[in-house]
Amino acid sequence: MDDTSFPMHGIHEIFPLADEALPACSTPELEDKIRFLKEEMNAVILSHYYQDENIQDLADYIGDSLDLSRRAAATDADVIVFCGVKFMAEVAKILSPNRTVLLPDMQAGCSLEFSCPPQQFRAYREAHPDHLVLTYINCSAEIKALSDIIVTSTNAEAIIRQLPEGQPILFAPDKYLGHYLIKKTGRDMLLWDGSCIVHERFSERELIRLMTRQPEAHVIAHPECPEALLNHAHHIGSTSSLIAFTEQRPGQSFIVLTEPGIIHQMRKRSPGSLFFDVPGTGEGACTSCNTCPYMKMNTVEKLYRCMVNRAPQITLDPALMAAAEKPLARMLEMSKMIPASGSLHEASRQLL
Ligand code: 13P
Ligand code: SF4
Repeated sequence: MDDTSFPMHGIHEIFPLADEALPACSTPELEDKIRFLKEEMNAVILSHYYQDENIQDLADYIGDSLDLSRRAAATDADVIVFCGVKFMAEVAKILSPNRTVLLPDMQAGCSLEFSCPPQQFRAYREAHPDHLVLTYINCSAEIKALSDIIVTSTNAEAIIRQLPEGQPILFAPDKYLGHYLIKKTGRDMLLWDGSCIVHERFSERELIRLMTRQPEAHVIAHPECPEALLNHAHHIGSTSSLIAFTEQRPGQSFIVLTEPGIIHQMRKRSPGSLFFDVPGTGEGACTSCNTCPYMKMNTVEKLYRCMVNRAPQITLDPALMAAAEKPLARMLEMSKMIPASGSLHEASRQLL
């Protein structure tokens, strides 16, 4: 099937939809239609842990940024439906250029990506020609093309430890992750001044209040959090590392300093454990603005609509893709020793 066509089925009656148009049916019916379309299109649905619960439950594979990159690179499916943010879907396209990559909402960006405009980054890089440019995967394809090696929160420390001592490093765009990595590895790095609007806004005051009320709880944090928050954590790691930490301690309680969408997987894997999310310090009366506004742009309705319409679709200039692929390929090569940690729905093993 080419990219402009769409499936027509007797009982399911799936038609291309205008942006606002949605079938009048319940969520379970819509979910059935999505499963049916998935088979028809030979599609695979990849989801990040921060997606809505019902999207996670529809996905063939749920993982962190490294897991999802690896899955996208290895898939045999014709279509990758990416339930995450745009930079993640771009990585899928760069690593699997012959596949159609769909993103339910093309506005699903990332504040780290926005905090690193390519023109300014190019100038910064040119001002430090002796530095190796190590870039967090949360950035645009243009920034990747200006980088030497891409890292994720899962592999950053291991990759830095493989670099020769004395090699000057420029790290972008997340200053908090960069600062954490400097502390962990003892390597001096020049840091770009970017941050995640979700992780930098968790309220330390609310965290302390929760810790006082739940003295037995483990505090677990993503390294995108500022140091003041990380100083309270018993465990710091990528989304998959945080989930693994909770799985290894069934029946215990956890205060979770990352986007609360992840708690869905934690509860599924450890039903006897207790999980507490931490409120953000939002404007005015907002005491619970701790969700990622970009991740939450994807909905089951938009997921269905993008599959019917085969749009929005990720398209990138071939020269840009070729340039961005090099630092991603280096990342995959340098993280070979790190095992996969995402989770696969049993029924999808063969497709992936
Ligand atoms: P992970 O790679 O740890 O899943 O992080 C992705 C992300 O966007 C965190 O905000
Ligand atoms: Fe980007 Fe932060 Fe959202 Fe992750 S949580 S996708 S870093 S804005």
